[in-house]
Amino acid sequence: MGETTIEIAKAHPEADFIAIEVHGPGVGSLLNRIESEGLKNLRVVRHDAVEVLERMVGDGTLAALNLFFPDPWPKKRHHKRRLVQPAFVSLVARKLQGGGIVHAATDWPEYADQIDAVFSANASFVKSEGGFTSRPATKFEKRGRRLGNPVRDLVFVRRQGASP
Ligand SMILES: C[S@@+](CC[C@H](N)C(=O)[O-])C[C@H]1O[C@@H](n2cnc3c(N)ncnc32)[C@H](O)[C@@H]1O
Repeated sequence: MGETTIEIAKAHPEADFIAIEVHGPGVGSLLNRIESEGLKNLRVVRHDAVEVLERMVGDGTLAALNLFFPDPWPKKRHHKRRLVQPAFVSLVARKLQGGGIVHAATDWPEYADQIDAVFSANASFVKSEGGFTSRPATKFEKRGRRLGNPVRDLVFVRRQGASP
């Protein structure tokens, strides 16, 4: 519903943020908060994140991408719907600046393994073993924690230079 996004944008007035979400009530809630807080560094796009990256974001322009609790699609036959796939990782590599950061978090261990494997397999990324992993907990995460779900944070740094 945007609580974490607001917190991050408030904590970093020096940066500009684009939040991408298709869930209407979440977008509405975030827009209300942006207005009530008077935030100037956060914009919201209600559209598919892949298309937004492909069509609205210039190559090599993003300093960072936060991917917090992407839908895990637990059933094996639905795994192909997961956002983090090799083609998505190549797209992200194209859009990030050299030195740019991807920070992903999930409470689904097997999806964490997939995220780890797919980013690690892309030569444009180097895994970071810490240092960038602080983030406020999302509402979704707080609920997961109450249910005892372990959360894994994964951070990758975009190498300098063009995508291989
Ligand atoms: C499991 S929820 C996590 C929400 C939030 N990040 C949190 O931690 O509370 C996943 C969210 O991703 C959104 N979503 C899934 N696929 C998307 C896509 N392709 N583009 C934009 N949003 C997407 C869903 O609408 C849903 O709100």
